[in-house]
Amino acid sequence: MNRRLGLLVAFVTLATAVLLVGVVLLCPLQTPISVVRFAPAGIPAGVLFWIGMSLIGSSLAVRMPGGSLMDVMFAPLVAAFSLGGPAAAGWVGIIGSTQAREIRGQVPWYGVVANHCAITGPAILSAVILQSIPFRSHTAVDFAATALAALVCFSLMTLLAAMFTSLRTEEPLWSALRADAGGYVNMLALAPVAWLMAQIYIVAGWWAVLLFAVPLYTTRLAYSRFVEVREMFTETVRSLAEAVDKRDTFTSGHSHRVQSIAMDIGRVMKVSDSDLEALEWGGLLHDIGKIGVPDSVLLKQERLTREERALMNAHPALGAEIIAPVTHLAAELPIIRHHHEWFNGSGYPDRMVADEIPLLARILHVADAFEAMTAARPYRMTPLTTEQALSELRKFGGVQFDPDVVDAFFKTKWSRGPSDSTTDEAADVPLIGHKAGVLTGPGRNPGAA
Ligand SMILES: [Fe+2]
Repeated sequence: MNRRLGLLVAFVTLATAVLLVGVVLLCPLQTPISVVRFAPAGIPAGVLFWIGMSLIGSSLAVRMPGGSLMDVMFAPLVAAFSLGGPAAAGWVGIIGSTQAREIRGQVPWYGVVANHCAITGPAILSAVILQSIPFRSHTAVDFAATALAALVCFSLMTLLAAMFTSLRTEEPLWSALRADAGGYVNMLALAPVAWLMAQIYIVAGWWAVLLFAVPLYTTRLAYSRFVEVREMFTETVRSLAEAVDKRDTFTSGHSHRVQSIAMDIGRVMKVSDSDLEALEWGGLLHDIGKIGVPDSVLLKQERLTREERALMNAHPALGAEIIAPVTHLAAELPIIRHHHEWFNGSGYPDRMVADEIPLLARILHVADAFEAMTAARPYRMTPLTTEQALSELRKFGGVQFDPDVVDAFFKTKWSRGPSDSTTDEAADVPLIGHKAGVLTGPGRNPGAA
């Protein structure tokens, strides 16, 4: 755990502990949470009931593509504090957010503490806000107030989760926030469900709330299907890319690294989510056309003849042809076809100039070139150092590369050397970011991957 992450976990833990002790001592549990209608004797059982509902919700957690966990415990948590007040938020939040993987010991202790506090703290604060809103005896006011409290609770929980992710992965905060934006609407849609659960609990009793297990389960099913289908597609694309890379032992893993670098440049350049996704898959598939390049050319260590060079240079157009029938990869086509175009128009296959070249292809070209320069190749057994590769990118900026993309690359972690270039993410807080033998060999350029 890095120091800043440690400080954030310590701060959130301390703040939540103060809030928790404060509300337990100062805010009595309110009678609507009682299992026996408004009878004080049924309050503890009511709290236990909502803790149970939250535990069921927590067990249905799904990991979103951005890395955070989405679970449907949000609904029973909001319902519980709208019924029982801030103290109920404290009890249900701190106990009800327990997950099976925590009990199995798969999460480090500080991860467990961070997870629970990042849910409990926002829940208590939202419950205090909800309690301070007057005229909740009017149904419409109560609905609006509960929705507002749910929004505040969700926003704070999401912000804290994104801060943890950002400090853990060293991604910018905004990109951690944006990574799971697709799931936000679904989660916020649970706010009216929470209100309805609370109303049904009061009017019909605790047993009627159990009926909500069905819509909550289907919500979870929708999350998991979305994540599963996306992961299946990514894995298929990754296998395809690996199949191409594996033909040449020197390029094994190349596409995966190019993908990571290109996505980081895209994040710095603040490209849209759909463009980032195109870079993700386009990065993996950019050299798919090498399937059609004979081994005698692809693996040749000597200088290529004119004919062999023509065969090699056909791979971007061939790759685009291979991918064209896959309608889902339409956005990746320009990346694959144009990733060897030069900024000054001397690239291939279409000799495009400057802005004519699609931005994502210009981004991929820089990522591809940097990875190729810093990895061993048959024609250059000793890779360039990061500094040497950086100076090549600068030297060829405006010639081969888009200077703006080179500038963006310099702001990524890749420009800081191998120690910062790892893409492995530590699973600290899993809650809801040589000298070159030959610089550029004959007929080669920095982007000749
Ligand atoms: Fe290529």
